[in-house]
Amino acid sequence: MPTLNVEGFGSYEVPEGKRLVNAIEDSGVDILHRCGGYAKCTTCRVEFSAGEPDQATAAEIAKLQEKGEWGNVRLSCQIVCDHDMSFKPVHTLSESGLPDPGPRPEDQITPEPEWRAVDNV
Ligand code: FES
Repeated sequence: MPTLNVEGFGSYEVPEGKRLVNAIEDSGVDILHRCGGYAKCTTCRVEFSAGEPDQATAAEIAKLQEKGEWGNVRLSCQIVCDHDMSFKPVHTLSESGLPDPGPRPEDQITPEPEWRAVDNV
């Protein structure tokens, strides 16, 4: 099972293949996901210190490029837990003042992922 090292929170073993945003939340970290996991809001963003995935969905790349954040952060709703990762969640519910984190993202990545190699972006 992959291990998530979540800066400021702890280390968690999570099921192989689980969607990262849901793995983070189910580990007890109150990460935001305001658009429900559709690569639209960027509130699920994380900053990697190790294990950044070498592929990304076309939706993630497009949204982060639009925000000028490609290369700085990644969207946890567009990542699958298939290896160990170390990162910091950028936005949490407790620090946001919002009433809830957003709709629960589906188990599978949405929209339907089109994978791209990060090196070719
Ligand atoms: S971009 Fe909105 S939850 Fe990931």
